[in-house]
Amino acid sequence: MHIAATGTALREILKNSPRPCVLVPTMGAFHPGHLSLMHRAREIAGPGGTVVVSIFVNPIQFDRPGDLAAYPRPMESDLAACEAAGVDLTFTPTIDSMYFPDRSVTITESLLSHGLCGAARPGHFDGVCTVVLKLFLLSGCDTAVFGEKDFQQLAVIRRMVRDLDVPVEIVAGPTVRESDGLAMSSRNIRLTPEQRADAPCIRQALVAAARLPSPAEILAAARAAIEASPLTRIDYLSLVDAETLQAVTRLDRPTVLATAVFYGEVRLIDHIAVRPG
Ligand code: PAJ
Repeated sequence: MHIAATGTALREILKNSPRPCVLVPTMGAFHPGHLSLMHRAREIAGPGGTVVVSIFVNPIQFDRPGDLAAYPRPMESDLAACEAAGVDLTFTPTIDSMYFPDRSVTITESLLSHGLCGAARPGHFDGVCTVVLKLFLLSGCDTAVFGEKDFQQLAVIRRMVRDLDVPVEIVAGPTVRESDGLAMSSRNIRLTPEQRADAPCIRQALVAAARLPSPAEILAAARAAIEASPLTRIDYLSLVDAETLQAVTRLDRPTVLATAVFYGEVRLIDHIAVRPG
């Protein structure tokens, strides 16, 4: 079933739908990474529960109007993909039905959001938290599934749920990759053939560096490997605590090596867990 317009309509339908209700929030333009989250949601809901996928290109999480306008919206094929993945209900609200023109309440996470992707995108995670909380409230879901690919987003959402006592269980799905290791992303199609052939170097750099014994060696090796390609420009490369996302100088807790790399205008992100030393 597909609901195009309002959150109130969604709430009415889901009030009496079989439990558990499992939500997969998305902005559409599906690739196999998104589909893996839908399959995970189906597993959690079981044959009797309800799987809901929201498709909403959320204007308040975009910091550049050009990005928002350029975001792909292949609605027909997305709806067909949901159907094929066994999704029970697809929710595609309009902007007007989600946001009042004079809306004045925003959810702000003020620790984990500042570094990494948040540094270059002020307000981005406020927009993500606000829409995700609205989607939780409108769907009344018991569980929501997010991709590990956007690991800062996942950590920020977990923190919001913890701090605001949101009664939704957050489940993470592993990053789905191309056969050469590049993390799947709707941005990959914007790479030139030359950039696309080069892009697996990001993952290779992270995998090789994560094996090294010290933070300084890890960061230096990853930087050297990524910068060895003339096509790349590093936006950030950081070693951070897996939970607080604060920079670490010692490997004495779960740690993540995270990077964002520009190929021309296209910004790709990836990360890898580094075992505590
Ligand atoms: P979007 O970019 O459409 O991503 C939807 C979900 O798919 C996110 O949880 C993301 O982490 C996951 N995902 C993307 N690429 C993946 C991959 N290669 N493997 C596994 N999962 C992957 O993230 C958003 O939308 C928005 O910020 C949203 C949470 C919907 C709020 O607007």
